[in-house]
Amino acid sequence: MSNPLAPGWLSAPGDANALHSGIWPASMRRDDTGALEVGGVAVTELIERYGSPLYVFDQDDLISRAQSVQAAVSAACARHGITGSVYYASKSFISGHVVSWIEDAGLGFDVASAGEMAIALAGGANPDHLEFQGNNKSADEIAQAMSAGVSTIVIDAPIEAARIQAIASAMDTRQKVMIRVNTGVHADTHDYLATAREDQKFGLSPEEAIALVSVIRDSSHLDFVGLHSHIGSQIFRTEGFLEAATRMVQAYQQVRREGEAFTLNLGGGFGIAYTEADEPMELAHLIDTIVDHVAALCTTEGLPIPNLAFEPGRVISGPAGVTLYTVGVTKPVTVHEGDQVATRLYVSVDGGMSDNARPALYGANYSARIASRTSSESPALVRVVGKHCESGDIVVNAEYLPGDVAPGDVLAVAATGAYCYSLSSNYNVVGRPPVVAVSGGSSTLMVAGETLDDVLARDQGLSRGQG
Ligand SMILES: Cc1ncc(COP(=O)(O)O)c(C=O)c1O
Repeated sequence: MSNPLAPGWLSAPGDANALHSGIWPASMRRDDTGALEVGGVAVTELIERYGSPLYVFDQDDLISRAQSVQAAVSAACARHGITGSVYYASKSFISGHVVSWIEDAGLGFDVASAGEMAIALAGGANPDHLEFQGNNKSADEIAQAMSAGVSTIVIDAPIEAARIQAIASAMDTRQKVMIRVNTGVHADTHDYLATAREDQKFGLSPEEAIALVSVIRDSSHLDFVGLHSHIGSQIFRTEGFLEAATRMVQAYQQVRREGEAFTLNLGGGFGIAYTEADEPMELAHLIDTIVDHVAALCTTEGLPIPNLAFEPGRVISGPAGVTLYTVGVTKPVTVHEGDQVATRLYVSVDGGMSDNARPALYGANYSARIASRTSSESPALVRVVGKHCESGDIVVNAEYLPGDVAPGDVLAVAATGAYCYSLSSNYNVVGRPPVVAVSGGSSTLMVAGETLDDVLARDQGLSRGQG
């Protein structure tokens, strides 16, 4: 029976052990004992070997997602005789292994800091496949990008165009640049995930961008190669993407020059399913729709169709990842709602907002299952919470789990591959968990976890005390 405290979108499942399709990594299933396995490795074995909590990536799922996006963009663009490129948004998750998988799948990288750039380059990415973004790139970061031979820098403000010109001139080199346009499209997502509303920090209005194109074309060391937009993240509706594309084509129409190669980068932001209520669009269909829309507009206006680029992160890394936690405490909490009395079971795990800030940051919802066993107990409404000193330290706000969920159970939380490790912190002096990849029955450590010693070693007061 449904619990009155459950949100409207969450229904009590017939079987609280079942894995809702589309939320979990492709290889996730229950083995003969009822425990979950991923990439052919039992989660209990992973916890034993690497500890808890643990980030786990289904390697083949991540690679096949990257390949599918690349194939969809290439096919859609080829139909119109243009080039289609995909830049993986490294901010969603980057590590040496991921760099080699993404590079092998033929994608480039969107990097937004010297750190992301350093991992991409050290991981073997071709600098010519890198695009450097951000609203406040330092002169050092720009110089590093140019020294490394990063293909394109996306300019976010006029002051940055001058900065890149000065550095390119001092280095006696030329730099390809794009301009980030704030299309003003109100994407249907959380406020903090929408990046093209007028009153925020990213990009320039179409009018400002158009004015800056002339400045760049007059600069001795900059090569203008196109316009860029990204309207936000975790978007489910097509309309926002199409409206942004329309505005980008309008800007392109105003700045294009006969015979000049031109790229419109239309960003990322494709939504994924975190819960059974999320219904993302089929990605290849969405990409076809956007590309066909741009092509049709250009044909109507008598314009050559520009090359197109996309910049997805979450749709590649998100669903391929899960986080494993161990339950430490369970506690039923009685809640009085009007004349109703209901119980919510609080399930405390050994991680929390330090390894997944998204529920606290955006009110993000997730799905969970007991991973170490199945149970025939009736489903109970639970809130999975972390071990941090914040009441907003929520891992899964609302979920039905078997009512006998208990200390020692391993829980798996779905779709944590994107923006979890990359947004992680040391809050409450907790070390970041390790990240492992699983495939074909074996596991590989991708990123070592932080030990308490690692965290304490940075505290110079302690070092002095010990010295
Ligand atoms: C400029 C830019 N490009 C691409 C992305 C990737 O978005 P997503 O992971 O939702 O596809 C982001 C994310 O915020 C972004 O800011």
